[in-house]
Amino acid sequence: MIIAIDGPAASGKGTLGKRLAEHFGFAHLDTGLLYRGVARALLDAGLPLEDAASATRAAEALDLAGLDEDRLRGAEMGEAASVVAAFPDVRAALVELQRRFARRPEGAVLDGRDIGTAICPEAEVKIFVTASPEERAARRHRELLRRGEDVAYETVLADIRRRDARDSGRASAPLKAAEDARLLDTTALDIEAAFRAAVSLVENAKATLPAG
Ligand code: CDP
Repeated sequence: MIIAIDGPAASGKGTLGKRLAEHFGFAHLDTGLLYRGVARALLDAGLPLEDAASATRAAEALDLAGLDEDRLRGAEMGEAASVVAAFPDVRAALVELQRRFARRPEGAVLDGRDIGTAICPEAEVKIFVTASPEERAARRHRELLRRGEDVAYETVLADIRRRDARDSGRASAPLKAAEDARLLDTTALDIEAAFRAAVSLVENAKATLPAG
């Protein structure tokens, strides 16, 4: 079974994906890390983020096992990731790796922007997680402060709005809910309530699957 979770920056899809994977014993891939990894590789090599050919080569060479989540999680890397994620060749280079992951025999949860629309349109469960920009900025602000990044709430909100516009406006696999996705607005939900809502969506989908 494949669970596709999409949504804008800091909507809570990563935490939700992780919890669902633990609950159902599935593998979990946070696909944002792939784009963050490509951006990191360019910056480490001293190359500009706008260099599409180098970004594509970095995407082709990306090694899942080598991604250091801690180094990739910062605010600056989210912004950088959304620049390289707009290049169609970078996206194309990462498709197979994601589809292979989705075929894990135990089941898989993938979260990102285009899982339900482009990577796994056949996913049995598609959830589009949203929350207001202000709520998402407040969550991301708390997370960054915990990481020791000293940044103002207004800066985080501006970053989120800019990233929403870039991710939704790009031509290649823009951020968009699949037609058959269930919307989960977490503005007024804590993680427990969002998790329970998502579990029941998955349970309902499981009940309608053919046995075996
Ligand atoms: O956690 P947050 O939502 O801030 O970021 P992320 O999910 O790690 O994604 C970082 C950036 O990678 C996004 O702003 C997107 O531009 C890009 N991305 C994408 O294009 N497609 C995906 N499936 C996942 C991320």
